[in-house]
Amino acid sequence: MPALVSRRSAVAPLFCRPWTLNGISPRLIESHYEHNYGGAVARLNALAEELAALDPAATPPDVISRLKRDEIAALNSTLLHELYFASLGGDGRAVPESMAAVMTQDFGSVDRWRREFVALAGDLAGGSGWVLLSYVPRDRRLVNHAGPDHTQAVAGGIPILALDMYEHAYHLEFGANATAYVAAFMRNIDWSAVLARYEDATKVAPPKPLEQKQFADLPAVTVDEVKAMLASGTPVQIIDTRPRHYSSRAQEIMEGAVWRDPERVDEWVGELSKSTPVVTFCVYGFHIGCETAATLRKAGFDARYMAGGHFAWKAAKGTTRLFDSASSTGGAPESPAPTGAAGT
Ligand SMILES: [Fe+2]
Repeated sequence: MPALVSRRSAVAPLFCRPWTLNGISPRLIESHYEHNYGGAVARLNALAEELAALDPAATPPDVISRLKRDEIAALNSTLLHELYFASLGGDGRAVPESMAAVMTQDFGSVDRWRREFVALAGDLAGGSGWVLLSYVPRDRRLVNHAGPDHTQAVAGGIPILALDMYEHAYHLEFGANATAYVAAFMRNIDWSAVLARYEDATKVAPPKPLEQKQFADLPAVTVDEVKAMLASGTPVQIIDTRPRHYSSRAQEIMEGAVWRDPERVDEWVGELSKSTPVVTFCVYGFHIGCETAATLRKAGFDARYMAGGHFAWKAAKGTTRLFDSASSTGGAPESPAPTGAAGT
């Protein structure tokens, strides 16, 4: 097997200007940058070489696992130290207006954000880890979180501000007084750099949603929207159109829904009201609920399908009731009376 050539990580120049910091000395930054950041890059490269040199098929899995764990720790230490140095060098009190607006939206206020961030740091005092402010593309929002042991806790999250809570970050100057160190860090945050990283992060597309090209024009509702309709008492006719072969085994049904056989729409369509919205759904939300909604729309109903179907409702902790499939013929023994307003 040909040996793999490892790709080396280069040391990045120090981002902040140490002599401009308020209450954090150049000596502390130099020691941190040289020994701890430089050490992480060196470890990362040594591990990359070690991994490249071995044959995964001939190496015990536990050896590979240990090396990969160490590699991720060294890689995260490298990345987060670079972000830490890039987080310093400004006036921590001067939060740009646009950044403050984002933080108010995601945390309630800048002050509330600050209290939560500092509380996470306080919990790591005397321990080891990172406190991070990260952007989550999936939810298009910021979160604070701790990253103990060089782990970055949010999958797909993009950290934009990092506070190093390993003792090596402050012990030289602050001793065990982590509180004073955290206050000094907060005084020196470079908010213009944080804002620039936030703006870059918001350009990252969220994970691709499920797309069903054949139903692209068909209106959908989310399970949360259906929950909100029910909670607000909005009249809605909810039809479970899981296939007969499936529903005959099902033991539960969404609260507020009636089951109707999707193959016998003609037999039960007459019981629906055209003046009340209809929501249909199937097991996972792929086809049958969509097709039924499309059929009903063609017949003049305000119908849409519930994305994700029965299991999305369950995953969102929507309530269900026992389902007696034997008594549900699919024909129309009972009318799917509008729910919500009637409190059903
Ligand atoms: Fe560090």
